[in-house]
Amino acid sequence: MASIPSSERDSFSSKFGVIAAAAGSAIGLGNIWRFPYVTGENGGAAFLLIYLAFVTLVGIPVMMSEFVIGRSAQKNAVGSFKRLAPRKPWFLVGMMGVAGAFVILAFYAVVAGWTLSYLFDSARYLVQPDKYGFGEMSTEQLRHFFQEGYDSFLAGTWKPVVTFLAMMGLTVIIVLSGVRDGIEKYAKILMPILLAILLVLVARGVTLEGAREGVRFLFKPDFSQITGNTVLVALGQAFFSLSVGMGTLITYGSYIQKRDNLANTAVSVAFADTFIAVIAGLAIFPAVFAFGISPDSGQGLVYITLPVIFQKMAFGSFWALLFFLLLCLAALTSTISVLEVVVAYFSEELGMNRKRATLIAGSSIGILGLMVTMSWGPLANVTFRDLNIFELFDASPAYFLPLGGFFIVIFVGWFYGRNNSKKELSSEGKRSIRYYPIFIFLVRYLAPIAIALVFLNVVGLIRF
Ligand code: TRP
Repeated sequence: MASIPSSERDSFSSKFGVIAAAAGSAIGLGNIWRFPYVTGENGGAAFLLIYLAFVTLVGIPVMMSEFVIGRSAQKNAVGSFKRLAPRKPWFLVGMMGVAGAFVILAFYAVVAGWTLSYLFDSARYLVQPDKYGFGEMSTEQLRHFFQEGYDSFLAGTWKPVVTFLAMMGLTVIIVLSGVRDGIEKYAKILMPILLAILLVLVARGVTLEGAREGVRFLFKPDFSQITGNTVLVALGQAFFSLSVGMGTLITYGSYIQKRDNLANTAVSVAFADTFIAVIAGLAIFPAVFAFGISPDSGQGLVYITLPVIFQKMAFGSFWALLFFLLLCLAALTSTISVLEVVVAYFSEELGMNRKRATLIAGSSIGILGLMVTMSWGPLANVTFRDLNIFELFDASPAYFLPLGGFFIVIFVGWFYGRNNSKKELSSEGKRSIRYYPIFIFLVRYLAPIAIALVFLNVVGLIRF
């Protein structure tokens, strides 16, 4: 751990460090892999608009509420509720978050493994272009390579397993070194560089012949594409991308210093996260249409499309290498934030030391994730309603994150008390909180009602 006396809780050192760590958690595969693929499956621009509304009206209030809970209680996701509401069942919300962390990390680290594998492939290609890599494959071959082929990546048994274990291992190593030394240091420099490369990709993407169609897809809404399920997917994606609804930001909130501005941090993080997602969309969709790839190709979308863009760029394999490197690092700043939820809970509530907590959490999630890596291979037959293990894991956060978020805003809006939340948001009266009436309206009414309506619609009790 950092050189901090053990009596004091580990915390983030600077204001930028806080934003960087929370943004590092938020920005990741959710933006660059998941956002484009779910947007592609759900009709494009109309989905994007609903997504933006959910980020603003539901996501930000949930994020601020998580910060309020974590920083006032100075505890992990479960312990925070126990401290703020002793002998009440609210801690179950935290428990659901800890369980959710297992599910999310088990499939997220698998996708991080794909990214690592692409990183290796671009490195090999750079060294021996004639022998290796996807640099010269056609779109068809790439799809084959990625989904079905002889060297089929997903159905393979060793490659996804090894790369998954590598990403899990790296996550464990970083979390072992503690919050300030581990998490903060990495997040600070990486996100800005990632954005810069994405912008290079956008420049290449939008100048491709036939790119127009992709820009239109992303920005010209067609509301006939929207169904009740689309709305749930949009809500789930907003929660997923912002890292809210399962106590990650309660945990990180407990490491934020008392003087820092929670509202400002939440808005900056949400803005940065959303900006990166939209930019990623703008990098992907023009190329998707230009190359005749189907926007609803599912989880493989960016892994099929990106290599084609790189092929069309001068020094493409160099850009590919850099991009996949940064994407791996962005994924790591997210995986560590998920593992930290479990580690903070194990160490503070179950009395394990940090090392033991990290190893136990990491290895149990590792075992769960191994099953996920086999979703297209040995375990392809294990399905539920036509979804394989990976797809089930990937779809479930759309349910449990909004559910967690619902209870989090209800807690802060109705149970925690206005004076307490005001005190926390204003850093004990030291800063003005003129926005407070809006905040309290959102957490009391708008956010919980919006979440409830989406759920009622999904179970068929109402229709919109
Ligand atoms: N938000 C991250 C991404 O977009 C993933 C993530 C990290 C996450 N921590 C989380 C998702 C907590 C849900 C809950 O890549």
